[in-house]
Amino acid sequence: MSSLSVITPFDVETIRQDFPALHQMVHGKPLVYFDNAATSQKPSLVIDRIRKYYERDNSNIHRGVHYLSQQATEMYEEARKKIQTLINARQSYEVLFTKGTTEGINLIAYSFGQKWIKPGDEIIVSALEHHSNIVPWQMMCERTGAQLRVIPMNDAAELDMEAYAGLLNERTRLVATVWISNALGTINPVAEMIRMAHERNIPVMLDGAQALPHMQVDVQALDVDFLTFSGHKMFGPTGIGVLYGKEKWLEEMPPFMGGGDMIEKVSFEKTTYNELPHKFEAGTPHIEGGIGLGAAVDYIQSIGYEAIGKWEADLLQYGTEQLLTHFDDIRIVGTAAHKASVISFLVGDIHPYDTGTILDQLGIAVRTGHHCTQPIMTRLGIPGTVRASFAFYNTREEIDRMISGIRQVKKMFKS
Ligand code: ALA
Repeated sequence: MSSLSVITPFDVETIRQDFPALHQMVHGKPLVYFDNAATSQKPSLVIDRIRKYYERDNSNIHRGVHYLSQQATEMYEEARKKIQTLINARQSYEVLFTKGTTEGINLIAYSFGQKWIKPGDEIIVSALEHHSNIVPWQMMCERTGAQLRVIPMNDAAELDMEAYAGLLNERTRLVATVWISNALGTINPVAEMIRMAHERNIPVMLDGAQALPHMQVDVQALDVDFLTFSGHKMFGPTGIGVLYGKEKWLEEMPPFMGGGDMIEKVSFEKTTYNELPHKFEAGTPHIEGGIGLGAAVDYIQSIGYEAIGKWEADLLQYGTEQLLTHFDDIRIVGTAAHKASVISFLVGDIHPYDTGTILDQLGIAVRTGHHCTQPIMTRLGIPGTVRASFAFYNTREEIDRMISGIRQVKKMFKS
């Protein structure tokens, strides 16, 4: 069942009906899905729209005069406009479709790097980055001779803003920081970080992969220069994501990939490039992905970020309290004052992998390990964590299931 009605007050049972994957047995137990930071489940609205696209509208876009091609083009471009509205971009052509957050970051590192980065320049990232916001910059530094600088964090996993202020200097060309840590849930003070960088005319890129599923994003209010995010973490399909960039940057930046659709005129002597957004969208795109992401935006808006935020804040608070109340040897990893609905933890001296494996046998899906953030784990001196990450369709009852699951884990390991 798909619902587009505005649901107030928050009716989690009705919402759960929209997500078919939540209603299954895993190892003979009803599924508890707490791996939303890795990827979210999809509402029927998204699944149905993709199905309809393949059953009725399938065609290549931006190329055909025929009916189906025009239909598909319209649906794809309409999805771009939905995203423009969602993030409050000035222009729809500032919204580029990518494969996901990772491709968005690589695009900037390549293209911005080629245009503006020289030996001795500096790029600032933070101690809380996912590998996808470290490695592309290291590759860029190798190509250009630039240097990577890292904002340190404290033991609670909050960025050291004084150190950040000290890192900004006349050699800094770009600040590329994660908004919400996928591993620990810290919400970074990005508005302040952008303001500080802009005082020195330094542009800022935000990795918004974990922000869009949880909170209202307004690129104009933030005045952010670039924002990347992924469809699959915000209830849309895999293989599609968005790079928002201010027109003034995107206009100047060279293309990332060459191919069809990104050109204006091709000859063997010289090629000229298409206008935005097509300049950055070479080849046949992930058409059903874009359309599916548009449906995910519709779905999120039908619930509303305010209701989502309230519900998830309750889950975060309840989950944290329950863990700390029921067990005296639980260590919550990441205790920032501002957190999204992610709880990373360790149970006594039990390896995260063992905890995750036993919870899985009980039908409870959590992620274990370093969560693609090895530098965070190194900084904290731990091999990894167990991570429960909640979406708006999760419930307190599911958290209770996890608590009794951990009790069983402890019994097995006599911790
Ligand atoms: N970045 C994803 C996660 O946090 C895969 O699990």
